[in-house]
Amino acid sequence: MQQNYQIGAVVLAAGKGTRLGGSIPKQHRLLHGEPMYMASLRAFASVAEISEIALVVDRAHLQEVEASLPGFLSEMEPAARPTIHVVEGGAERPDSVVAGLAAFSSAVRYVLVHDGARPYVTGSLIRRVADAVTTYGSAVPCIRPRDTIRTAEHTLDRSTLYLVQTPQGFRRDILEYAYEQAKQNGFAGTDDASYVEQLGVRPHLEEGDPANMKITIPGDLPEEEETPS
Ligand code: CTP
Ligand code: MG
Repeated sequence: MQQNYQIGAVVLAAGKGTRLGGSIPKQHRLLHGEPMYMASLRAFASVAEISEIALVVDRAHLQEVEASLPGFLSEMEPAARPTIHVVEGGAERPDSVVAGLAAFSSAVRYVLVHDGARPYVTGSLIRRVADAVTTYGSAVPCIRPRDTIRTAEHTLDRSTLYLVQTPQGFRRDILEYAYEQAKQNGFAGTDDASYVEQLGVRPHLEEGDPANMKITIPGDLPEEEETPS
């Protein structure tokens, strides 16, 4: 496919998984026979539009992840193989995002940032976000909440609310600038869109995928994977 820009994907797998618990961080727990982060890696690697992947991992797993890549890539046609950078993450999610962004070559103009703890992401959602980011400059997959949401004081108007997913896509220069500014201003958000919004940019919303849930607490794992590994 001919493109005069390149798209990179940051796959975040450097968290501690405190809320899920267990002896190893959640993204390394086996899900259907392989470490959870591999499902996201596979999905991004299967999308031709993604030319580089920055796989951000915690220091303790760097070597193990590096060692698994040649085998993973050898299953793919040589021409279809993305460049994969394995990068050490930071203490907090934003530190890991910044480390991932810094790994891309200068040809990468658009970036998708994905939580490695969302193993059910599909190639079709990734393609949709990639298409939208090159059209609108940003793309944030969202779904409608099923439940009514309230604060302690009052009920919120559900018709104005969204549940936010990843991968979220942005122009690389804007996302990098947003993280630089946040560092200076002491802003901390829980997703990438919230950083870009601090610049006054209103991101484009895309339809998300209800199956693309984040593994966060023990009940989120399939039953057979519940026992700590
Ligand atoms: N993440 C990361 N680096 C960090 C923190 C988080 O790469 N320093 C990643 C996680 O690996 C995960 C994603 O960001 O894929 C979303 O974060 P979250 O679900 O909060 O994961 P954890 O921070 O690992 O879990 P917890 O908050 O329960 O400790
Ligand atoms: Mg966290």
